[in-house]
Amino acid sequence: MSKIERNNIDASNLLDHIEGIFCRRGAESYLGEQVSMAQHMLQAAQCAEQAGAKNTMIAAALLHDIGHYANEIPETALAEGQDNYHEQAGASFLEPYFDAAVIEPIRQHVATKRYLCAVQPSYLVRLSDASAYTLKLQGGPMSAEEVQSFETNPHLQACIDVRVWDEEAKDPTKEHPEFSYYRPLLEQLMSQHLAH
Ligand SMILES: [Fe+2]
Repeated sequence: MSKIERNNIDASNLLDHIEGIFCRRGAESYLGEQVSMAQHMLQAAQCAEQAGAKNTMIAAALLHDIGHYANEIPETALAEGQDNYHEQAGASFLEPYFDAAVIEPIRQHVATKRYLCAVQPSYLVRLSDASAYTLKLQGGPMSAEEVQSFETNPHLQACIDVRVWDEEAKDPTKEHPEFSYYRPLLEQLMSQHLAH
């Protein structure tokens, strides 16, 4: 598969581009965790599927960290996700192609960690060392005011579910499907979105 230029991505080549990222760069390490980036995202999708989640949530789990590949993402999307705000960059990149039910859990997955740490002390204890470390950089647990405002998100439950799978998807010994297994599901969600 030849590499697609990041500023030339459209609906016709988006999934080739994303599959290319998984294949070319999936083995890169995931921020101090025991799993690679591809293992992490594919396991998150697998957790969603095994929980009987909707396709939108499986897609969100699968793509939630795509924004870490900053130099694979169109520069226009990166402008909205400055510095290392990978969740915003990933959401902006995918937003033209998928419904909010897919995009919001991606955009909010760091905020949801901060939310869960505030409302569920048991969640804070479950964080991996790397995730607990980045929590500090991300602003720590939400304040009561932030919690209140976050709870108005109509996709709150999907955000929470994706975040829980995100934490679970760090098992270096677990087998999981490849990206190609999820491609028909992504194709279907994209065509539904683009038909509206
Ligand atoms: Fe993640």
